[in-house]
Amino acid sequence: MSWDAHIITGFPSMFPGTLGESLAGRALHDGLWSLTTHDVRAHGQGKHKNIDDTPAGGGAGMVMRADVAASALDSVTARHSLPVLLPSPRGVRWTQSLAQELAEGAGAIFFCNRYEGIDERFIEARAPLEVSLGDYILSGGEPAALVMLDSILRLLPGVMGKLESGLQESFSASSGGLLEPPHYTRPPVWEGLEIPQVVTAGDHEKLAEWRHQRALAMTRERRPDLLEDLPQNDKSPKK
Ligand code: ADE
Repeated sequence: MSWDAHIITGFPSMFPGTLGESLAGRALHDGLWSLTTHDVRAHGQGKHKNIDDTPAGGGAGMVMRADVAASALDSVTARHSLPVLLPSPRGVRWTQSLAQELAEGAGAIFFCNRYEGIDERFIEARAPLEVSLGDYILSGGEPAALVMLDSILRLLPGVMGKLESGLQESFSASSGGLLEPPHYTRPPVWEGLEIPQVVTAGDHEKLAEWRHQRALAMTRERRPDLLEDLPQNDKSPKK
């Protein structure tokens, strides 16, 4: 069964964009997921097919009309019963667990819009899940949707070459919520730098412990906030 991505946007040519290449691109070609863009301009009002108007109460920029937004969204939800996401810097933070949850479902609808550019009544009435990549402002929801989709699609069964590489990475439950430990490959010595002996020695138990300690140290140094979220016993060195 294919995972269904629907994108409502004024810029359909931005898709599949980066998702047409590499892992996601191959998976799209193989039918593991499908992509449908819906041009919001098709729902424009009046002679000029307007999708936005000047802000009530004054101010800079334009605001997308609630009736246009609802018409565009309703035309998709009438045929597809899927979660509706609205990328926005004021949304809940996008996380690996949200990506995982969505990957386990049948698909998602992304409503992409210019930042600050949508009539609040549409959000109140249709209650999409507002999701944010972080505390910075993108020019619109499209690049955010590409990033969010990327993180979902690589979790779909059959998309990633080696299942394991998806299971043991940073932020996943099986990595203990820690950052990833370092990786090495050939040559054994590069610019005078050697691969740590424990990595090549062949003692798998020792290596696992070393990786755990490195992951823990790196997380403590760079992202102590991640350790706050862990159960108490995960913070101590593994016995
Ligand atoms: N649209 C504009 N900025 C965004 C952000 N930081 N995250 C998600 N969507 C956005």
